[in-house]
Parts: sequence; C-alpha cells; structure tokens
Amino acid sequence: MASGTRCAGKVVVVTGGGRGIGAGIVRAFVDSGAQVVFCDKDEAGGRALEQELSGTAFIACDMTQEGDLQTLISETLSRFGRLDCVVNNAGYHPPAQWPEETSIEGFRELLEVNLLGMYALTKLALPHLRKNRGNIINISSLVGAIGQSRAVPYVATKGAVTAMTKALALDESRYGVRVNCISPGNIWTPLWEELAASTPDPRATILEGTLAQPLGRMGQPAEVGAAAVFLASDATFCTGLELLMTGGAELGYGRKASPGTPVEVSTLLP
Ligand SMILES: NC(=O)c1ccc[n+]([C@@H]2O[C@H](COP(=O)([O-])OP(=O)(O)OC[C@H]3O[C@@H](n4cnc5c(N)ncnc54)[C@H](O)[C@@H]3O)[C@@H](O)[C@H]2O)c1
Repeated sequence: MASGTRCAGKVVVVTGGGRGIGAGIVRAFVDSGAQVVFCDKDEAGGRALEQELSGTAFIACDMTQEGDLQTLISETLSRFGRLDCVVNNAGYHPPAQWPEETSIEGFRELLEVNLLGMYALTKLALPHLRKNRGNIINISSLVGAIGQSRAVPYVATKGAVTAMTKALALDESRYGVRVNCISPGNIWTPLWEELAASTPDPRATILEGTLAQPLGRMGQPAEVGAAAVFLASDATFCTGLELLMTGGAELGYGRKASPGTPVEVSTLLP
C-alpha cells in the first residue's frame, strides 16, 4: 500500500526489478504512490514481488532482446496510458577476472546487458517521456569513475553509462526530459552475496567490502530506492547528474598497491 503521494499519478518502469537494488527501487516508487511496471529476466522473483506489492505489474523481459523491450513499453502504455520515468537498473557484474582471463565475446555480452539494453529501452521510451517532461535514471557504479581491480569490462560498461547519461541529458533538455544516474558503491544485494561466495574466503570478502566505506557498512537497496524517488520527483533542476551513493568509499587514501607490485619507499629522511 502506498503511504506517500510524491509520485501519485506517475507511471514508472524499472528494469531488473525482481531482486536487489531494482526491487528496492520498485518498493520505493510504490511507497511514493506511483504505478510501477517492472521487468526482469528471472520470472519467479518478479512474479513473487508483483503478488506482494499492489500497484505493480511485472513483465518478463531480457534486456538484450529488443522485442522484449518493445513489449515492455507497449504493455505499459496499454495498461496505464502514460510513461513518466524509466529506471535502467538491470545489470551484471562478472566474478573478478584479470585482463588475460577476459574474452572479447564475454565483454561484448556484458556491453549488451549493461549498456546497449539500457540505450535500446531509452530510445523506445523517449517519445512517451517527452510528452510528460518525464525523466530517466540510469544505475551506473562508483567504479565507472574510480576503476576497480580485475573488472575491466564491467568498469568500462559503467563508465559508459555515466558518460551516456550526461550526453543524453544535453540532447533531451530541449524536451524538458531530465536524465540522471546513480552510482552506488557497495550495496548489499544477492549479486554481492553471489560474488562473495565465488571467492576463496567469502566472509573475508564481505568484511573487506564493508570496511571500504568510512560509514562502516554497505548500503541497502531501499537507500538507492529513496535516491531514485528523489531524482524523479524533487530534483527538478538536476539533469546530467551523477549521484554517488557510496558511504564515502571514494574518500581519502588507502592501501592500493596489489601484492605483486614492486614497492619503492621514499628515503627523504636522513
Ligand atoms: N550491488 C552493488 O554493490 C552495486 C554497486 C554498483 C552498481 N550496481 C548496479 O546496480 C544494478 C543492480 O545490481 P544488484 O546488485 O541489485 O544485482 P542483482 O543481481 O542482485 O539484481 C539484478 C537484477 O537484474 C536482473 N537482470 C540481470 N540481467 C538482466 C537482463 N539481461 N534482462 C533483465 N533482467 C536482468 C537479474 O535477474 C536481477 O533480478 C546493476 O546494474 C549493478 O551493476 C550494484
């Protein structure tokens, strides 16, 4: 049941809404009074959330299939008659890989999911968003700005998402369509848990991920959801913005040389 009215009368599409950050965004928009259409390639998770939350409609959809994206937009319009906001959240982070472990084919597939699917949906949605001076929110990542070890393809896709957000914000400003992105740091989600489970010591990996934030914890999907509702409803003078949601992870110095790096200690002192 909606407890707020900030987005009453608005229709919002959220991709990858079946779990994790996407589910947090779906919940936040429902709480703000919006009608939410969300998609996911995982049908079981999506259907369960749809049952739980009235005011939502789930559509099974793979972001890499343009026909699925066309159905997502056309179903949204036939059921609710308008479109005010698209949250491009669906994405994937592969397990850690050194450059020599990556493949061009794997990189290409990741681009399809993390970047091109987002752009394909955006293109289909824009004519409808322009009618309502709507907005787009892309879920990028802090690592698109600061890099991440053993994640070249992922970092490249997210850097592109942030850059695309700014370029599109410029082009769509003439229609009054705002385009912003949220760059989360470590948010505790099923994906984070799965990635930790793929490491030799999952508990140590989770502890390291927790201590990366000066705030001493990971973020929650609900916190990203709250930021998305803010960008959609209150941030009316923000476009091309990259909103960092990181618990301060990018602040300050830290130990950054990897174990095999030759270390030179300066000997300025006598
Ligand atoms: N969790 C983090 O710490 C973190 C940090 C920065 C950015 N992000 C980004 O946030 C987004 C959500 O991440 P998460 O941690 O919630 O992941 P998650 O895996 O827990 O949830 C992602 C959802 O997207 C769906 N999805 C994936 N590929 C899809 C496709 N091709 N078509 C349709 N649905 C698809 C999955 O089925 C899943 O339900 C991603 O774009 C991710 O890169 C996450």
